[in-house]
Amino acid sequence: AADPWRECAELAVQLALQAGQIIRKALTEEKQVSTKTSAADLVTETDQFVEKLIISALKEKFPSHRFIGEESTAAGSKCVLTDSPTWIIDPVDGTCNFVHRFPTVAVSIGFAVNQELEFGVIYHCTEERLYTGRRGQGAFCNEKRLQVSKETDISKALILTEIGPKRDPETLKLFLSNMERLLKAQAHGVRVIGSATLALCHLASGAADAYYQFGLHCWDLAAATVIIREAGGTVIDTSGGPLDLMSCRVIAAGTKEMAMFVAQEIQTIDYRRDDEN
Ligand code: IPD
Repeated sequence: AADPWRECAELAVQLALQAGQIIRKALTEEKQVSTKTSAADLVTETDQFVEKLIISALKEKFPSHRFIGEESTAAGSKCVLTDSPTWIIDPVDGTCNFVHRFPTVAVSIGFAVNQELEFGVIYHCTEERLYTGRRGQGAFCNEKRLQVSKETDISKALILTEIGPKRDPETLKLFLSNMERLLKAQAHGVRVIGSATLALCHLASGAADAYYQFGLHCWDLAAATVIIREAGGTVIDTSGGPLDLMSCRVIAAGTKEMAMFVAQEIQTIDYRRDDEN
């Protein structure tokens, strides 16, 4: 078939919309909050409920596929990308926002085959914006085609980042010094919105010129990477080399020049890989 994964992509959209509705309703309700790897790494019943809902619906339709989910991984499932068709899911991205009723929360569903990302779906739950990207077929927000910024000059750039879960003094020092380096290089601003996937969607939309982060996970990156690449953007490792989905670090930018500039400026913050046990 011309598009062997079309049925998968269509179901991903349906499930993201369904999950988004649940999250939108739960946003203003009382929540049971627990912590995972750090005091700032949060999980709620909604994260777990939505992940189970998405994975069980997909398993029923595609029993031979593999699944990587944020909450399944937290519960002990292995996080390895094989050549099999694999779904990579973040049920609630921006859990800390969700807990605080800060309305920047998304569902993210990515899909890879032979370790190559085929499509990504990210749904902004409160603003009801559906971002999609399909390899070779472009990226869209609702019906509108996405196009990244063409900016190459840091002194004209708006930069996005996220803090990541670690809060030890050494990590915080590096995090702040990276931000300082980009501001010293005259970036117009640096924004932290609390959802890696939605920040990456802003990058895909051309609403920002670069994104970098240490400590995000494959489920924050999978769907967004397809969307950005299909919008004409670059997604690479923080070293300047090719992206490694399991490395927990990324630079994304509208242009290669911008991505390489950020790569040269920032210092590495060490995080464990997603596929390390
Ligand atoms: C997290 C958020 C956060 C980013 C973390 C992510 P979660 O995802 O996107 O902004 O700093 O690296 O893991 O835990 O809310 O799904």
